Amino acid sequence: MGIESTCDETGVALVAGTTELLGDVTATSMDQYARYGGIIPEIASRAHLESFLPTLDAALEKAQVSLDQVDAIAVCAGPGLIGSLAVGISAAKALAGATGLPLYGVNHVIGHLAVDQLVDGTIPLPAVGLIVSGGHTNLVLIRSFAPGGIEELGGTLDDAAGEAFDKVGRLLGLPYPGGPYVDKLSQVGNRAAIRFPRGLAGAKYAEAHRYDFSFSGLKTAVARYIESLEDQARQTSGSGYSEDYVTCPEGKPWLPAADICAGFSEAVNEPLVAKTMDAAAAYGCQTVVVGGGFSANSRLRELLSAACAQAGLQLRIPPLRYCTDNGAQIAALGAILAEREVVPTGLDFGPNSAMGLTEVLAGS
Ligand code: KG4
Ligand code: ZN
Repeated sequence: MGIESTCDETGVALVAGTTELLGDVTATSMDQYARYGGIIPEIASRAHLESFLPTLDAALEKAQVSLDQVDAIAVCAGPGLIGSLAVGISAAKALAGATGLPLYGVNHVIGHLAVDQLVDGTIPLPAVGLIVSGGHTNLVLIRSFAPGGIEELGGTLDDAAGEAFDKVGRLLGLPYPGGPYVDKLSQVGNRAAIRFPRGLAGAKYAEAHRYDFSFSGLKTAVARYIESLEDQARQTSGSGYSEDYVTCPEGKPWLPAADICAGFSEAVNEPLVAKTMDAAAAYGCQTVVVGGGFSANSRLRELLSAACAQAGLQLRIPPLRYCTDNGAQIAALGAILAEREVVPTGLDFGPNSAMGLTEVLAGS
């Protein structure tokens, strides 16, 4: 059994072995945050508390499994919101304490990669892992999913890719979280109309930041671009500019939102794909695994598919429903650890909001 509660999703999933998903159920409190433009941790914690038991019952029902048939429990130990994590971990400890089952406190982010096992079977290793969640943009080398098997190659120095998409969504007045909206608009825009800067790209960064990313300069460039169009529109009669645009964001005829999104999406995705392919070649990996909410991005999927096909590499990206947070990612990683007879964490661990990528299991 896997239990997820890092952010706003309460997820419970049941797996058989390391590749078969029996059933999973996810509840989310995301709809409560639209009016705030961001997650409110206190609301998220309370929502986990309310959702946990109904989600557990629904997952057991869906999987047609009873609690006494479960062999082991895995729960996300971090990284994530401390209050959200605390609810899931407390629930998992209560279950483990009451049933006597072994408990694994696992890394949520590594779970984003492991979940693909439930879709396409055992992941051939070593593999390069590209983690693109709301808070992370990292490249890792996966030698194994056991403790000590993950090497961090690089990551973003500032914003995560999903975070940058959300910020550009906000600049354009799109609903929160903006990522999927910016993605949608980018599909109908002209990718070549506006060229935004690529962070840490080019020969200059090949040594010091070979596998690192940076998106905050890009976000600033998009903000400047929008400001300059606003200035122009304000000064030009007939452009459709209205001071009302703040209260009516969709009414911005002077703003080529689709072209901005398309140009911005290229500037985020090109370095992601180039550095992933570079890492696969450098470490002799035949497989690239992608995980995290941003792996739902249509352009990332398109560019990576083409690059991997050209290089003869196997690309493993889970379907959209397993890209965002869910219990299946925790169950998948827990099942791999249990199968390898890794010693369970037991009850002696707490939430770790800053859990590092190489810490597959709490305290490992
Ligand atoms: O992994 P995730 O569900 O949550 C974390 O663990 O952080 O990732 C959520 C992030 C958000 O920033 C969201 O806007 C972004 O993934 N996202 C997308 C798309 N779908 C979700 N970003 C761009 N294009 C998408 N299609
Ligand atoms: Zn996540």
